Amino acid sequence: MKILGLSGEYRTTSKCGMLVNHALDIAKGMGVETIFWDLDTDPLPIVGEEGCWENENVKRFQELVTNCDAILAASPEYHGTMSGAMKNTFDWIYGKHISGKPVGLMSTLGGVQNANTLNHMRIMLRWLHAWPVPEQLAIGKVKEAFDDEGNLVDEDHVDRLTKLVESVIETTKKLS
Ligand SMILES: Cc1cc2nc3c(=O)[nH]c(=O)nc-3n(C[C@H](O)[C@H](O)[C@H](O)COP(=O)(O)O)c2cc1C
Repeated sequence: MKILGLSGEYRTTSKCGMLVNHALDIAKGMGVETIFWDLDTDPLPIVGEEGCWENENVKRFQELVTNCDAILAASPEYHGTMSGAMKNTFDWIYGKHISGKPVGLMSTLGGVQNANTLNHMRIMLRWLHAWPVPEQLAIGKVKEAFDDEGNLVDEDHVDRLTKLVESVIETTKKLS
């Protein structure tokens, strides 16, 4: 089984980069092959911009999505919804790449925890015929959520993240 990690922020050191990589580490510990697409080192053009349809990163990205069994995706909440980077990443994915695949959803917020971004991502995934699992994780007041080493400080967050990853893996097994 291969799980692809996506972040709606650039770099592995961003909050969503750290969060999704924690999720991937948990999956790795459960015997799953993992891969993280970092928009910082492998940027995806904005859909529609000049030259985007011939972009080599786009082709590699779409192949990666096609060849993975499930996705773990974390987006920051920007103005009450997912970041533009997250939406643009999913705009490069069509049903033929992701349909029938489980997705685990996470979000980070500067303010109070809510599920807006997660719900918007669920609606988007419906159009792609993907299968977001019921478990999800929104982390509010994200500036306080990680220690200096990048670990999640709240055990409840670790617990919920583990259950989310377990659910994605179990669902992938059931659907395959
Ligand atoms: C353009 C922009 C809009 C934002 N809108 C919200 C928002 O609507 N609600 C919220 O709780 N935080 C908001 N934030 C804070 C982000 O959610 C927060 O920066 C993000 O979760 C990641 O944290 P980091 O910037 O420390 O990496 C916003 C940040 C930016 C840059």
